[in-house]
Amino acid sequence: MSGVSEDFVRIFDTTLRDGEQSPGCSMTTPQKLTIARALSELGVDVIEAGFAAASPDDFAAVQAIAREARGPRVAALARCQRNDIERAAAALEPAEKGRIHVFIATSDIHLAHKLRMSRAEALDAAAAGVELARQYCDDVEFSAEDASRSDPAYLADVFSAAIEAGARTLNVPDTVGYAVPEEYGALFKYLSEHVRGIEKAILSCHCHDDLGMAVANSLAAVQNGARQVECTINGIGERAGNAALEEIVMALRTRAPFYGVGTRVNTKRLYPTSRQLVAVTGSAVARNKAIIGENAFAHESGIHQHGMLRNRETYEIMSPDDVGVSRSQLVLGKHSGRAALSDRLRELGFALDESALNQAFAHFKSLADKKKEVFDADLEAIALGQTGNEQG
Ligand code: KIV
Ligand code: ZN
Repeated sequence: MSGVSEDFVRIFDTTLRDGEQSPGCSMTTPQKLTIARALSELGVDVIEAGFAAASPDDFAAVQAIAREARGPRVAALARCQRNDIERAAAALEPAEKGRIHVFIATSDIHLAHKLRMSRAEALDAAAAGVELARQYCDDVEFSAEDASRSDPAYLADVFSAAIEAGARTLNVPDTVGYAVPEEYGALFKYLSEHVRGIEKAILSCHCHDDLGMAVANSLAAVQNGARQVECTINGIGERAGNAALEEIVMALRTRAPFYGVGTRVNTKRLYPTSRQLVAVTGSAVARNKAIIGENAFAHESGIHQHGMLRNRETYEIMSPDDVGVSRSQLVLGKHSGRAALSDRLRELGFALDESALNQAFAHFKSLADKKKEVFDADLEAIALGQTGNEQG
């Protein structure tokens, strides 16, 4: 196992950086702040707020989140280049706890065709990048992009140099979602045994879902010593997405005796956070999506319903309550009152103040007059109108 003082899995949420890079998921700064607030309530350990050097908007979003977030550490991504690192440091300046996350590719295919660098040059650039980042921030993470397709011995040398330069988190991305669980887990075991100074650092996994194995790969990494998992709400991210945060958290919790290590996430906030992301991005989740899909706790077949009525554990391995899915089937319509609306909005992750609630209630009533039933998506749009107004 890598060097960890307390044994728990740190949840590094990259919804606002890697997730936001996916088509249809880009967010404005006020929208990113809404999600950052939800992530703080969820209790993630690190919020990756963006890539500060990418654009003035990205810089502003990282800075705004750094200014506001209290609890989670706020990370900003940077290539191993002076300008990127200085922009990340400047954006993180107001953070209570900041992290500069530097990366460079280590696979031969990326070195030859993207970076046009030799292995030795990339190793030197990695060490120099970490060293420069450490001049601005005492918490530096280093990622070896395309690690899972890199030569493990070379990867161990790059990580050893990163630790020597001051990195304290080493991230092993499966950038193109190529790995399979046995192989990815074995890579973590190999790195635990071959990286010099590994007792000073935490190993981190970061998986993409091109072969549908991002969550399985992340769990294999945890079994082999990873104590940070990088993931996104609803699994949004480049191409097929990143490992889904809610699935990892609930797998570690539901199968606690098997994994023997958990997270600090408040699981009751999983569903509300998921819904807020859907409301902000408009990017829907599949009905049958694990944990937070509409059907995740629905039972239709007669045999299943019969079993459930006798004992829920016959067909339910998790309680919907544990992930913040309310059991109540209360239908909101024109006869519903302000309290019912406020309750439902809270379940959906929106805590509105008195005046925002009054306005939301007025919108709700006029909509309820036109529709038989007001759905969660309608309520989310109404609530978002109010929080959007608050943020100006
Ligand atoms: O997938 C990847 O390699 C990344 C790194 C920048 C961490 O997102
Ligand atoms: Zn990624």
